[in-house]
Amino acid sequence: MPAIVLVGAQWGDEGKGKITDLLADQMDMVVRYQGGDNAGHTVVDGDQEFRFHLIPSGILYPHITPVIANGVVVNPKVLIEEIEGLEAKEISTEKLLVSCDAHLVMPYHLILDGARELKLGKAKIGTTRKGIGPAYADKAARTGLRVQDMLDMKIFREKLETALVEKNAILTKLYGLDPLDAEEIIENYGGYAKELKGFIADTSLVINKALDEDKNVFFEGAQGTLLDLDHGTYPFVTSSSPVAGGVCVGAGIGPKRIDKVLGVVKAYVTRVGSGPFPTELNNAVGDALRESGGEYGTTTGRPRRCGWFDAVILRYAARINGLTGVVVTKIDVLSQFSSLKICMGYKYKGKVYKDFPSHQTIIHKCVPIYEELEGWAESLADITEYEDLPEAAKKYLARIEELGGVPIEMVSVGPKRRQIIMMR
Ligand code: GDP
Ligand code: IMO
Ligand code: MG
Repeated sequence: MPAIVLVGAQWGDEGKGKITDLLADQMDMVVRYQGGDNAGHTVVDGDQEFRFHLIPSGILYPHITPVIANGVVVNPKVLIEEIEGLEAKEISTEKLLVSCDAHLVMPYHLILDGARELKLGKAKIGTTRKGIGPAYADKAARTGLRVQDMLDMKIFREKLETALVEKNAILTKLYGLDPLDAEEIIENYGGYAKELKGFIADTSLVINKALDEDKNVFFEGAQGTLLDLDHGTYPFVTSSSPVAGGVCVGAGIGPKRIDKVLGVVKAYVTRVGSGPFPTELNNAVGDALRESGGEYGTTTGRPRRCGWFDAVILRYAARINGLTGVVVTKIDVLSQFSSLKICMGYKYKGKVYKDFPSHQTIIHKCVPIYEELEGWAESLADITEYEDLPEAAKKYLARIEELGGVPIEMVSVGPKRRQIIMMR
């Protein structure tokens, strides 16, 4: 099984970091293929908690080669801080590779992200304000600066000066902000370049070589299927392609190289930021999920919106990603409820939708159709064998499997590595 993809199958924060860390044990390489430091992946290693934003979650294992591939947008300042933070904890970052083709998040991207959100007012996306949207927009407009541009400051200067003509006009005339000074940016990025030089590589070549040698390569998705630029709840999405198809473009491998696609789902659903969320619970149940699940953003600290498990979304994620397996996380959080609900379909204007509706109005206005299941009172935190789960929890999982149409491969019962049930 050399190439395994792991994607978020909801709106992000499904527990991808924990699962990547867990499986990294059996891998040789862990690759981030999209997104940027909008991601926040939590890994608990003994007493220590790590929050990764740009660095792949496999870095804690010395045998792993962590790769930031071309599809990622890199804020070099954040990357250096992350590297230094790990080195301070005596975790080696020596093997880290960063694609020369990855685009850079520039200071004006961060400012524009904030300014656009402010201007949108109530219609804001609720971005992480890490400059992700503006950075990918420049990539598509072919006005972006790439990691390799930092290797030749003459080229960097030329591209930056061209970019600033437009950016400064927007900053000053549209948003009434101060213009940016090219010299200051050149000085800062020149410094970052010196620190990152040794990590820069042709990562597509490295990844393909590893696959040729039958090495195990793991592609760690950030965000989630419903935040995908093409397939998510547009415009309330991120600006990259978190779905499995994004791996080919974002890492430079052919589609036939992918052997397995795992989708991570929480046993309930959360969302940070704005946008439709059919099973959202604006009540005491939602509050209870948030508090006991610790549902506060890893990157921004914002409270996450919480709701019941949605099988329509899982079926959709299975279709869009070609999921071969599912990982269910945080089922331990459900122990407090005497009864649980799973959304099987949506109702809008008298019509029932079993497939995720493609029309935005339906997603915004539909009412979920629920099936009620019995809860369980026992704590699941110490269970590591499927047989030891309470009957009600087994039924809950069986229903997720049945409605999603994809086999469950793992069930996570807590943030720690040992808190996992292997199903197959
Ligand atoms: P990611 O962005 O998908 O990697 O997920 P985050 O790290 O943003 O959010 C998941 C949170 O849930 C983190 O705080 C994890 O430590 C925690 N977590 C992961 N799996 C489990 C689990 O099975 N049970 C509980 N209670 N917490 C978990
Ligand atoms: P991980 O990898 C949850 C959300 C933001 C916002 C929208 C657009 O930890 O699962 P952006 O800054 O990307 O332009 O914001 O996407 N978002 C995430 N939500 N988990 C994430 O990452 C997210 N990354 C972005 O909250 O709604
Ligand atoms: Mg997260």
